[in-house]
Amino acid sequence: MKLVFVILAAGQGTRMKSDLPKVLHPLGGQPMIVHALNTARALTSAKPILVVGRGAQAVRETVGDDATFVEQAERLGTGHAVLQVRGALQGRSDLVLISCADMPLLTVETLRRLVERQRQNSGPITMLTMMADDPRGFGRIIRDESGAVVKIAEEAVATPEQLSVRELNTAAYCFAADWLWSHVAQIPLSLPKQEYYLTDLVEMAVAEGLRVEAVIADDATEALGINTRVHLAEAERVLRRRINERWMLTGVTIVDPDTTYIEPDVTIGQDTVVWPNTHLRGQTTIGERCHIGPNTIVVDCRIGDRCRVLASVLESAVMEDEADVGPFGHLRKGARLCKGAHMGNFGELKNSTLGPGAKMGHFSYLGDAEVGAEANIGAGTITCNYDGTRKHKTVIGAGAFIGSDTMLVAPVRVGKRAKTGAGAVVTRDVPDDALAYGVPAQVRSKSNDE
Ligand code: UD1
Ligand code: CA
Repeated sequence: MKLVFVILAAGQGTRMKSDLPKVLHPLGGQPMIVHALNTARALTSAKPILVVGRGAQAVRETVGDDATFVEQAERLGTGHAVLQVRGALQGRSDLVLISCADMPLLTVETLRRLVERQRQNSGPITMLTMMADDPRGFGRIIRDESGAVVKIAEEAVATPEQLSVRELNTAAYCFAADWLWSHVAQIPLSLPKQEYYLTDLVEMAVAEGLRVEAVIADDATEALGINTRVHLAEAERVLRRRINERWMLTGVTIVDPDTTYIEPDVTIGQDTVVWPNTHLRGQTTIGERCHIGPNTIVVDCRIGDRCRVLASVLESAVMEDEADVGPFGHLRKGARLCKGAHMGNFGELKNSTLGPGAKMGHFSYLGDAEVGAEANIGAGTITCNYDGTRKHKTVIGAGAFIGSDTMLVAPVRVGKRAKTGAGAVVTRDVPDDALAYGVPAQVRSKSNDE
C-alpha cells in the first residue's frame, strides 16, 4: 500500500520572534525541517509533500529537491492546508500520513506504529495521541463509554468537561487516502477562529459509523511541538539525550551526557571515552579506545583508534591511530597526524602532515608543510608559508631535528636527519644530514635603495 507523508509548515511561527522561518531554526546541527524530511524518507520512498505559506522562499531553498512544495496562500487552518494538497495527491496513494514540521522529535518507530494500525483499521483515520498533565492548548481526545474515539475537541470550542481530558491530539494522523480526499473539502468553518479544523474529520467519520483508531505515544516528549525558543532548547536536550544514549548503549563512555553535544551523523568506536564539554559535529568519525575532551570541538574529522584529544579544536583533519593533540591544539583544514604523531600545547597545523611518530610539542605553526617520520619540531618553530600573495610549501625530511624558534621561509626543504640551530632563519634548502644555523636577516635602509 503506497504511503505519502504530508508535512504542514505554513504556520508563521510568530512566537519564535525571529526573521528566520521557524522550521529553519537549527536543531541538532540541522535546520528543524530536515528532521521531518529524514523521518519521511525512512518511512516511505514517495517524495514528501511540504505545505508552506506564501513567501517561504528560504524554506524552498533549504529543502530543494527533497520535497514537493504546495503553497497555502491564505492561512485558513489545518483542514484548509491539507485541502491544498488534494490536487497533487488524489488517486496517487493508498495512505496519507500527516504531521507538522515543528514536531521534529517524532520517531520513525512511532509513526510506523501509526501507519500499521491504520493498515489494520476498517475505518479511515488513525491518530497519534499522548497523555500529559499540561494540556498546552492541544485538542482533547473525546471517547465514548466503550472507549472508542468520537471527536477531537479544540480548546477554543471545548466544554469545561472536555477541557479536563488529559489525552491530547499530537497532530500526527494516518488517513485512508480516498476517504480523506472525498471529505477534506466538506470540513465546516469553525467560527471562533474562522478556521477549517482538520480535527473535525474525526467527528465526520464517526457520524458515518466509521472507526477512528488512536495510538497513544509511549513517550510524550516525542510530541513536543516547537513554538518558542524555550521549546527549541527543550527539543535540543531531548535529541542530545537520545543520541548520547544510543552511543552509550553501543559501548562509548560519555562522562557527562548533559554537556556532550554529538551531531546525528557522527560515529564513535567502542570503549572510546568522551569527556565533558565536547562537541562532535558534522561528518566526524572516531575510532575505538580514544579519549576525546574535555573542552574539545571536532568538526568533520576522521580520528583513528587509541587517539587522545585534550582541550583542542579540530576541523576537517585526520588523526591516524595513536596520534594525540593538546592541550590547546588547533588542527585546521587538511591537517593530518600520521600514526603515533604528537602535537602538544598551542600547536597549529594547516594543510600539513606530521609523519608517523613525528613530534611538535610546543607553540608551533606549520602551514602547507610535510614532515617526515620521527622528525622533531622544536618549540616555537614557524613556517613562513605566505608571502602576501601566494602560499608556499615546506618539506622536512624524516628524522630531522628542527631547533627551537626556527623560521622556515617557504618554499624550502630540510633534508633527512638534518638539524637547524635555535633561532635559525632558513631561507635556502638544507641537504640531508646537514646543519643550518644563524640568521640571514640583513637590513636595507631606504637611502641604500636609492
Ligand atoms: C493543532 C490541532 C490540535 C493539536 C495541536 C498539536 C487542529 C485544528 N488542531 O492545533 O488538535 O493538539 O495541533 O500541536 O489541527 N498549519 C498550516 N496551515 C494553517 C494552519 C496550520 O500549515 O492554515 C500548520 C502549522 O504550520 C503547524 C500545524 O499546521 O505546523 C499546526 O498548526 P497550529 O496552528 O499550530 O495548530 P494548533 O492550533 O496548535
Ligand atoms: Ca501548535
